[in-house]
Amino acid sequence: MKNRIPVIILTVIIVALAALLVAQFIFIRNQATPTRGVMPLVEIAAQEPDSAQWGVNFPNQYSTWEKTGTNATRTTYGGSVNFDKLAVDPRLVMLFAGYPFSKGYTEDRGHANALLDVRDTKRVNEKTPGTCYSCKASENPGLWGELGMEAYDKIPFSELGQRINNPIGCANCHEAGTMRLIVTNPALDEALKAQGKDWQTFTRQEMRTVVCANCHVEYYFKGDGKYLTFPWAGGTSIEAIEQYYTDVNFTDWTHPDSGAKLIKMQHPEYEMYSNGSTHYNAGVACADCHMPYTRDGAAKFSTHNVQSPLLNAETACGACHTDVGYVTARVATIQKQVADTMGATEDALVAAITAIKTSAANSAANAAALDEARALHRAAQLRWDFIAAENSMGFHNPEEALRILAAATDLARQAELKAVQAGLPATTSGN
Ligand code: HEC
Ligand code: HEC
Ligand code: HEC
Ligand code: HEC
Repeated sequence: MKNRIPVIILTVIIVALAALLVAQFIFIRNQATPTRGVMPLVEIAAQEPDSAQWGVNFPNQYSTWEKTGTNATRTTYGGSVNFDKLAVDPRLVMLFAGYPFSKGYTEDRGHANALLDVRDTKRVNEKTPGTCYSCKASENPGLWGELGMEAYDKIPFSELGQRINNPIGCANCHEAGTMRLIVTNPALDEALKAQGKDWQTFTRQEMRTVVCANCHVEYYFKGDGKYLTFPWAGGTSIEAIEQYYTDVNFTDWTHPDSGAKLIKMQHPEYEMYSNGSTHYNAGVACADCHMPYTRDGAAKFSTHNVQSPLLNAETACGACHTDVGYVTARVATIQKQVADTMGATEDALVAAITAIKTSAANSAANAAALDEARALHRAAQLRWDFIAAENSMGFHNPEEALRILAAATDLARQAELKAVQAGLPATTSGN
């Protein structure tokens, strides 16, 4: 009897270990394949704004999403520190003169900070429409369903804020229950429809990009109701977007020095990326680089720690590129080239504004030529801003970035020349 005790103990240990392994295996399967008929731990209400609720069922996705709130590493041109862009490049203060961006313009950071940052920005005041919450909160899908977007956009920012407590979360990208990726922003649905596209027919890989277009796009507030609209009816290239704004006669503000009617570009990551970039053409999605598959023990899941891929390049680029050192060095080269080119464009814009201001102070200046100079300033600045406001410093589509910046510099120099000519005596101005 005595000598059987160790055997019994051993058996108990083996059985316990096996049970533990099976339990862990089931747990891991639950996390890695959440949609394949596994019973959820809790029922998640449709459009549940509290990401912690979803986190009960999907702890890996939740805990990585949480990290977006605390990331604080800077990269050469991006990263997760909300540094002051105006201090880094004082030319921006002159380019955005007369517009809130000349007062506050910080680098973007992680999704979990979105609500904090929009409430903190110097650009928000008592006239700010609720529309500004559209890309910041996980209450939105529910509120759009309840109120409709038209009513939502008419509510003042401060009033709407009382119903908003959660930053960007699960409900902005997923349908509860099925966990499939969905278009949640009505403005995106409408903009796709205006182009004859229906996201419900998109492939899974397409959705891994389009889900980011809920927010990472150029947009404007249409009419008095501040109706959130993406200017894509004629296409998503900068030329098509410029044409759209000209057709609807839209202007964000008038530059106090040049008198040009300008447009502020937002963050056209989706447009830049999808306008024929090498990666887009190769079928690569935003999520491939920004939400790569990650392992934690035996669990494999999409990291929801959305950030600069330069901070986890081994996982972000290494899935497709064997030489990660080489491709990240290429990023550095591309970004420096784009940044230098952008600097030259800014110098040209500053020169154009200065020339227009100087000529306009001359009461004998040719008014028609000055208006031409102002139109050229508008065309130049919206092109420059399309690249400057895009958050990858050209990496998402290097050829397109350099093409647009070259056009912007040329237009700005034309504006300067026109302005100088406008100020010359009529006999020599040629006008
Ligand atoms: C091939 C990989 C790749 C793809 C695909 C990709 N990106 Fe990026 N993205 C990058 C790199 C590299 C940077 C530059 C990061 C830096 O400068 O630190 C970047 C920067 C960004 C930034 C700014 C990050 C920061 O640190 O401030 C945002 C926002 C962004 N991308 C969104 C998107 C969206 C939206 C898409 C799809 C429309 C997309 N990206 C597709 C690689 C990619
Ligand atoms: C910014 C958009 C976005 C947000 C916010 C988001 N997800 Fe995801 N999620 C994705 C994408 C993209 C994938 C990849 C889907 C695919 O490959 O089909 C994904 C995949 C998943 C999956 C499938 C398994 C996997 O890891 O690939 C689960 C589960 C999931 N997310 C849970 C969550 C939870 C829980 C939250 C909130 C804490 C959340 N997601 C927030 C975009 C998002
Ligand atoms: C609901 C709107 C929304 C959706 C959907 C969304 N984003 Fe964002 N994203 C934002 C906002 C707003 C910020 C800036 C937050 C801040 O600075 O406080 C941001 C910031 C980022 C950053 C910068 C993070 C950092 O630490 O610098 C990256 C990268 C990014 N998003 C990529 C993506 C990708 C890729 C997708 C799709 C999988 C996506 N986003 C979907 C709104 C969104
Ligand atoms: C899902 C796969 C995938 C991921 C992830 C990916 N790439 Fe790529 N990359 C490609 C493909 C495909 C090409 C095109 C190769 C070709 O045409 O020879 C490419 C090309 C490139 C090129 C050359 C571009 C050109 O115009 O010739 C660079 C640079 C590059 N990738 C950098 C990166 C970086 C940096 C990352 C991570 C942030 C990354 N890639 C992530 C698939 C990927």
